[in-house]
Amino acid sequence: MGRIPDELVDKIIHESDIVEVISEYVSLKSSGKNFMGVCPFHSDKGPSLSVSREKQLYHCFGCGASGNVLGFIMRIKNIEFIDALRFLGEKIGVSIEQKKEHTENPRFKLKDEMYRINIEAARYFFRNIYNVKAAYNYFLSRNMEDKTIKKFGLGYSLDSWNSLESYLAKKGFSKDIMLKAGLIIKGKNATYDRFRNRVMFPVFDYRGRVIGFGGRVLDDTKPKYLNSPETDIFLKGTNLYGLNFAIKNKVPDSIIIVEGYMDCISLHQAGITNVVASLGTALTESQAKLIKKYTENVYVCYDSDSAGKTATLKGMDILQNVGCNVKVISVPVGKDPDEFIKLNGVDSFNNLINNALPIIDYKIHLAREKYDLKNMEDSLKFTKRVAYILSSLNSEIEIQYYGKKIAEETGIPQSSIIEDIKKLKRKNNYYAKNNEEEKENNVSNYKIEPAFKKSEQMLLTLCLKSKDYFEYIKGRISVGEFITPFYKIAADFLYKRLENEEKIIPNSLLGNFSTSYEISEVSLIFNKVVPNDISTDLIDDYIKVIKKHNIEDKIKSIKIQIKKYEKNGEKQKSLELFNKLILLQRQLDTL
Ligand code: CTP
Ligand code: MN
Repeated sequence: MGRIPDELVDKIIHESDIVEVISEYVSLKSSGKNFMGVCPFHSDKGPSLSVSREKQLYHCFGCGASGNVLGFIMRIKNIEFIDALRFLGEKIGVSIEQKKEHTENPRFKLKDEMYRINIEAARYFFRNIYNVKAAYNYFLSRNMEDKTIKKFGLGYSLDSWNSLESYLAKKGFSKDIMLKAGLIIKGKNATYDRFRNRVMFPVFDYRGRVIGFGGRVLDDTKPKYLNSPETDIFLKGTNLYGLNFAIKNKVPDSIIIVEGYMDCISLHQAGITNVVASLGTALTESQAKLIKKYTENVYVCYDSDSAGKTATLKGMDILQNVGCNVKVISVPVGKDPDEFIKLNGVDSFNNLINNALPIIDYKIHLAREKYDLKNMEDSLKFTKRVAYILSSLNSEIEIQYYGKKIAEETGIPQSSIIEDIKKLKRKNNYYAKNNEEEKENNVSNYKIEPAFKKSEQMLLTLCLKSKDYFEYIKGRISVGEFITPFYKIAADFLYKRLENEEKIIPNSLLGNFSTSYEISEVSLIFNKVVPNDISTDLIDDYIKVIKKHNIEDKIKSIKIQIKKYEKNGEKQKSLELFNKLILLQRQLDTL
């Protein structure tokens, strides 16, 4: 967990009441010891969600969702651990930021210092534009209003080697922190300002803190942009420029992603404020997840040159994989959004938004550009290409819909197109299946649940159920034998406490985990309903599954090792291992 002290996490979890918190999202009715309501995590009308005040846990009998108050908030708001903590903390009047300042961890101090120096540098750059005519005129020439310059804190770095450095030194900042923040550079003999004679764009994070800078030349020299280097607070590919403004007043229904500073600022200035910029780099998964926290509806609006198209396709896939609905806004060739809106106005841009294409249509559109549909041969190639694109669809309705459209466009019978799509789909499925089988051997892949995980979950559930079960299980399987990392932690926790006959408070165990997945999986051991009369045979079976997996794992790695020894001609060593192998195989047989 690192950043936030454990006691603080505990405090926030323990002082929040799960019934109160969930009541804000779900109407709960008291029912015996528990509260029941309609589960918000799957579509259902019946009251399948149960919330226990005593255990401080929720559990849905329909979809299996489970967890504590923190897990609930992470899941329903689709936010991360830290943000859920902050949210719950605010409710009970505990600030997690405050605590951070008090901690002595030098890394926090360094980061705080970097935020401070960045804001100071930003103020300095900002003031410069009112002193240097050329800088102010540059922004004017690009249609920036004064209001916009202020809102985005635009600025200018003087045509000088040390002006920022000496300014910051006067303000009491050390050279070391200037270097760490990437504001100055160490040369052979001396240090000098990184940004010189450039118009400056401070880069904000989603909370509006200045994390770095981009500086643009005032003419056409290269490189056009110079950016802050990666620092402790400026991590490439994790931030989105403009997000702080996009979410300022209310979370927008959709977000538009553009490439550049200027695109983002121009659209905001024109009143289209749900815009963020990925700043030239291809969109990363972490940026996609950041967007998904706020909305699922995303428009990609990159340049229409070939690099832009490639970036669009890649970005769309990434966004779709994290669960976004993606559409593409196509700006006419040769223009970027900034130039487009400058030339055509905001209404025209809104038209582009309304005409944005869903992923499939965009891919078909790109294919269409490549072929001359009046030519028979091209027309066939185009249709084949489209069949391939459509084979990624899972909905029969969509397949039929697009199939019909393409049939009308090309004159090729719909039935043949559909047949081709189906053939391709069978092929895709075949590959996908083989891939999954490969993954199944991999513990870290949680989608396909390995048998041992279910066993671990059952054993821990039983440990909680009665002292007898616990004694029986503890005598037969050790903590070290548990495989799934979070169940190993849970086993360790439970074994230690149950041995001393301590009461188990679910949240003290759950406080060890920081992803909603782990919280949910571990909560299951408190929520699972098990029959009263579990036989020791059944328990033995669960244990066997785990032991078997462990032995098979060892056998696998020994076999690999033996091969290596044999290759190197180390006969003695390989023989020794071979004997071990036989022992293990025997263990497996007698399980
Ligand atoms: N970029 C960069 N370094 C470069 C070129 C571009 O970091 N040498 C990044 C910048 O964040 C830039 C984005 O990529 O905003 C998009 O590049 P481009 O479209 O060329 O820049 P614009 O923002 O459109 O800038 P301008 O309109 O001023 O040319
Ligand atoms: Mn541009």
